[in-house]
Amino acid sequence: MTVRDIEVNNKRVLVRVDFNVPLDEGTGVITDDSRIRAVLPTIKYLTDRGAKVILCSHLGRPKGKVVDKLRLAVVAQRLSQILGRQVKSTKDCIGSDVEEAVEKLKNGNVLLLENVRFHPEEEGNDASFAQALARLADIYVNDAFGAAHRSHASIVGITKYLPSVAGLLLEKEIEVLGSILDHPAHPFAALLGGAKVSDKIGMIENIIGKVDYILIGGGMAATFFKAKSYEVGLSLVEKDMLDLVARLMQDTAKRGVRLLLPVDVVVADGLSPEAKVSTVAIENISPRLKIVDIGPRTIKDFSEELQRCQTVFWNGPMGIYEVPRFARGTQAMAERLAGLDATTVIGGGSTAEVVTKSGLASRMTFVSTGGGASLKFLAGKELPGVAALLNKSS
Ligand code: 3PG
Ligand code: MG
Repeated sequence: MTVRDIEVNNKRVLVRVDFNVPLDEGTGVITDDSRIRAVLPTIKYLTDRGAKVILCSHLGRPKGKVVDKLRLAVVAQRLSQILGRQVKSTKDCIGSDVEEAVEKLKNGNVLLLENVRFHPEEEGNDASFAQALARLADIYVNDAFGAAHRSHASIVGITKYLPSVAGLLLEKEIEVLGSILDHPAHPFAALLGGAKVSDKIGMIENIIGKVDYILIGGGMAATFFKAKSYEVGLSLVEKDMLDLVARLMQDTAKRGVRLLLPVDVVVADGLSPEAKVSTVAIENISPRLKIVDIGPRTIKDFSEELQRCQTVFWNGPMGIYEVPRFARGTQAMAERLAGLDATTVIGGGSTAEVVTKSGLASRMTFVSTGGGASLKFLAGKELPGVAALLNKSS
């Protein structure tokens, strides 16, 4: 069930959102507010219908303690700017002061509670903590897709005590990610990168029967090269993944799925500005160098394959994109996807960040707000935060 299926007028509605936004390390300023903007439809839906909206979120990993740098006041400020009206914040997320603040809310008002992870009971999915949160409201809405893979008190525990439904963002995420699993337009390609194969293996195994192409770049390509007995120099290899990767390559071949690996890579002897950098064919990686990006021939190959596709899912950068001169492959893929006349879905986390920073987000079909959550969903696994909500039939 979603917010559309319930009466919200004059009700206190606790909305779990994922305001875990990136902050500038020095200044603490929000560097990407996409996750805030993504829940505006739900907030507007509720306030337009006369609900009292109580937002609750985590920010970072404070590990059960108050960490001043991870207070949500900065998010309340940004949200106030975006909404054009004041969103008050509280100094805690449970307790009598918070209950008082909630009591003062008028229909259509919005309040933001303090970081739920300041309490160790949040991640412990503690029942009395969940009840203390539940006491604040009449209805619970989960719009935190990015955190729906966590069995925490504000995501799972609380649903025992309040009628619990999905927000509009959660609904949209499940709809879009579900549709590329269930009925993708073909050809369908998965473009995968990032450091580790182990993060993505569940997803790869689940989509292998649905895709036509798998394109592998980024650090994880090294484990594939190693499985094919190439020298990969100082690049990270996940030794315990080698057998699995070898089997995966056989499996794709058997099924007629084209698995493309880079044919050339950029290698460097370090990440500093003085580091020596060169582009080599994958047969020629020196034992003393590390792979930092895909090379120009690979960019061309990948681009040509993507050009043929009707659906593309992308998760994971093609290299160490945080260093601008090793970001070429990642940037080229972002631009290629933006130019496609196809359904393009971007996994959350660093890939979403790349696409947003380069101003290309609006040219993609959908940019997920979930990193780990979208991978788990595409691995075919149940998300505890979604499973805990009411079903239409019930
Ligand atoms: C995320 O950014 O991945 C989500 O907000 C979940 O955060 P977590 O990985 O700290 O649980
Ligand atoms: Mg995470």
